[in-house]
Amino acid sequence: MHRSHTCGDLNLKNQGILVVLAGWVQKTRDLGGMTFVDLRDRYGITQLVFNMDTNAELCTQARKLGREYVIKISGDVVERENKNPKNPTGDIEIDVKSLEVLNASKHPPFTIEDKTDGGDDLRMQYRYLDLRRNPIQENIMLRHRVGIETRKYLDSIGFIDVETPYLIKSTPEGARDFIVPSRMNPGQFYALPQSPQTFKQLLMVSGFDRYYQIVKCFRDEDLRADRQPEFTQIDCEMAFVEQEDILNTFEGMVRHLFKVVLDIEIEDFPRMDYDDAMKLYGSDKPDTRFGMTFVDIADVAQGKGFGVFDTAEAVLGIVVQGAAEYTRKQLDKLTEWVKRPQIGAKGLIYCKINEDGSTKSSVDKFFNEDSREAWAEKAGAEKGDLILILSGELDKTRKQLGELRLHLGSELGLRDPKVFKPLWVMDFPLLEWDEDTERYHAMHHPFTSPKPDQLELINADPSKVKANAYDMVINGVEIGGGSIRIHDRELQSKMFDLLGFTPEEAQAQFGFLMDAFQYGAPPHGGLALGFDRLCSMFGGSESIRDFIAFPKNNSGRDLMIDAPSPIDNKQYDELFLKSTHVPS
Ligand code: AMO
Repeated sequence: MHRSHTCGDLNLKNQGILVVLAGWVQKTRDLGGMTFVDLRDRYGITQLVFNMDTNAELCTQARKLGREYVIKISGDVVERENKNPKNPTGDIEIDVKSLEVLNASKHPPFTIEDKTDGGDDLRMQYRYLDLRRNPIQENIMLRHRVGIETRKYLDSIGFIDVETPYLIKSTPEGARDFIVPSRMNPGQFYALPQSPQTFKQLLMVSGFDRYYQIVKCFRDEDLRADRQPEFTQIDCEMAFVEQEDILNTFEGMVRHLFKVVLDIEIEDFPRMDYDDAMKLYGSDKPDTRFGMTFVDIADVAQGKGFGVFDTAEAVLGIVVQGAAEYTRKQLDKLTEWVKRPQIGAKGLIYCKINEDGSTKSSVDKFFNEDSREAWAEKAGAEKGDLILILSGELDKTRKQLGELRLHLGSELGLRDPKVFKPLWVMDFPLLEWDEDTERYHAMHHPFTSPKPDQLELINADPSKVKANAYDMVINGVEIGGGSIRIHDRELQSKMFDLLGFTPEEAQAQFGFLMDAFQYGAPPHGGLALGFDRLCSMFGGSESIRDFIAFPKNNSGRDLMIDAPSPIDNKQYDELFLKSTHVPS
């Protein structure tokens, strides 16, 4: 028997019994007469004690144990003199009677404790050691729990888990594909799925009217804290449904997950039009944990001779409550912040509403007290508040002010990771115009259905057409998105046409789907939630990396296995790939 208990099991109730434990040596402390060892496994830490007076040989052996040695001991559970109330096993220790080293360990490259001295790269290189640390283990266990509860919930309402292939043909979801050469089909390539989108739609045609899969997706895109090149979706599709059915089903699932995993009751799950989200927050994924919504002050700010405002398409402000006392230095810092290239604003105008009711702005030369009061009234600012104003092109200004709003929200402590504010953002535009390629792109993907009452507009003004598409947003993070799909061949070809595909190209890439629509495709729709994002949100972190057992770094590298890596010439030949030349 390797162990009778785990390192998290024992307490005073077990006092006096003989136990066998196995685990890793976290630390040894040699106090002369006594040696203490902290023994760790995934369940906890138990203190072992070796006594020089009663067993000198064993104690000498214990002194030689290095960090991360794997050992097995037997001994008696005894009450501790110096109890540690922070540790669930902190009332007891094990008076060790026998010790066996199961495996020695090299000295680890960083300390394997809750707080570690290891830098990011080192921890990624030795990920298997980082995964021994408590905080990361907790994240991985949280992920397991979210996964299990998701499966239980979806199973309970009739969803069927169906696997779909990883070696497929390119599906356009907005990112680049990862490509896999086919040895058996020289010069031809598979693509790894950016999502199982077309397959889940085909499963609807096949009659599996409620499908789900917790599935890996692959996207060759630039990485950020909430983006990995391979990530996991809770991917779902339903047939014979309308938008309302889907929203209710997945709102229900997410409420359930919050309840069972975090014991949090979600009160409101509001819905917001895309247009309103852009107007009020400058973002299609608004963080609604705090207010500070945009106010349009163009009508009271333009026409007073201040060229910057007069020539601007938009003059937008936010009111920062109680910030009239911001110093010159603080305001300069904010101005510098918005002028950074990542934000790209040309400047920031402020107006203070002082406690005595007087006002002071950075452009007093152009605006008298009356004008400034008109701003305050329009913005709903009160005594003690600060109005921050950006102006320029509408889309850019919204984006910049949205970033500033989030920045201030963080600075002012308004973005508590323990508070959760989910919402649906609805009625997205079907298409967006891309200046670079001078083409329309599907805002969600090309299989998204336009709102039925807007079909007429498709020919007249495609940019105005709204889609039956929705995103689930929590705390400013896009947790998921989906839509009601097109299930009609004609409309689907029209969509490809709008997206600039010739009929031949559409047939070559998506003929299988359009053909399937001719054999009795039911109305259907669905969504996918970002599983890694959901887990990191539950864990109170913005980075999904710590919730993935073996993640990639920001350059898409796995530092532990050192991938990607070159292949040998034989493999090039086998795969009919010509060049081994890597451009510099
Ligand atoms: P979408 O592209 O919006 O929709 O993806 C769904 C959700 O997946 C998560 N996500 C990511 N998470 C981590 N790293 C990434 N690189 C990454 N990319 C996306 C996000 C996102 O909301 N087939 C459609 C869904 C549908 O229409 O049913 C799709 O994939 O949380």
